[in-house]
Amino acid sequence: MHGRPDSSGAAARPAFGAAGGCRSRHVTSIALITAFLAQRSLRLCYAQAANATITARFAPQEASPTVPSPAFANPEMRPLQLRDVTVANRVWMSPMAQYSAPADGKPTDWHLVHYGARAVGGAGLIMIEATAVGPSHRCTAADLGLWNEEQAAAHRRLTSFLSEQGAVPAIQLQAAGRKGSHKLPWDGLGQNDPVHVGDGGWDTIAPSAVPFGDLSLPQEASHADIDRIVADFAHSAKMAHHAGYQVVEIQASHGYILHAFLSPLSNHRTDEYGGTLQNRMRFPLGPGRSTGVPGGEAGLRPYHSHGLGRRWHLY
Ligand SMILES: Cc1cc2nc3c(=O)[nH]c(=O)nc-3n(C[C@H](O)[C@H](O)[C@H](O)COP(=O)(O)O)c2cc1C
Repeated sequence: MHGRPDSSGAAARPAFGAAGGCRSRHVTSIALITAFLAQRSLRLCYAQAANATITARFAPQEASPTVPSPAFANPEMRPLQLRDVTVANRVWMSPMAQYSAPADGKPTDWHLVHYGARAVGGAGLIMIEATAVGPSHRCTAADLGLWNEEQAAAHRRLTSFLSEQGAVPAIQLQAAGRKGSHKLPWDGLGQNDPVHVGDGGWDTIAPSAVPFGDLSLPQEASHADIDRIVADFAHSAKMAHHAGYQVVEIQASHGYILHAFLSPLSNHRTDEYGGTLQNRMRFPLGPGRSTGVPGGEAGLRPYHSHGLGRRWHLY
């Protein structure tokens, strides 16, 4: 089943269980949440965690010395302090792209219900899906965006509700690079189906002029492009702060532009941004350094291969 544009400009969602039903797999995946504890990952089934979380919410703060609370016996149910940010527990919702925003990139009722429901369930931190730091950094025309004040105002409705439920509102910021300008997952070949400039797509850039699969040929990023992308991340982090987000995660994973610089498979450069691991990390670390906002936290999500060994977060 293919998505159809509705009156808001967002693509209609396929029915659950539709042939090739990415959405139904998606909903199943939403049941998975990832809790990151310091530098190691704990993965929990949401269904299991929900019981423990509800217990934790109503359990006394001090567990009895003789009969320990089953919730507080689990380290993942204890609060976590990240400088000025206190997270009620280590059950965090992973960023999962919804491809459900209208053309202006603002969150809608879909996002409020989707993320709000997990906050009501007791997750300590909700990481909003990969959100583009500029129009040319989107994967699809239905990506969330955060590069102007109007978008920040629309995100505030989301952050207010998450905060009211006791969850820390967090957002993943992204620049797609050579994986940009493709169709929605349930349209045609989805992430392998390019949308060309003449059909409403946009030009993409990458460390080297090497395409990703069947997507369009990207341009090699100039030094000016690199500086602009770092500035785009910094601006978007400022907008995130205005919107009420307490944590920003820089997407440096899954083949998007920061990861593409990290990987020797996509980075064939011979300047100071290519070659050695140190050179390949130079650009990806730039947005992390530039996104600091008072009272907030910035993290980086690198991919778990190509020399880094595993996923880690920098705080
Ligand atoms: C539908 C869907 C959308 C996703 N979108 C994002 C995303 O926006 N950003 C991101 O870093 N990871 C994204 N992921 C990956 C998840 O955050 C998470 O890492 C993954 O589901 C858990 O990996 P596992 O399969 O190894 O448990 C997405 C995963 C799914 C299933």
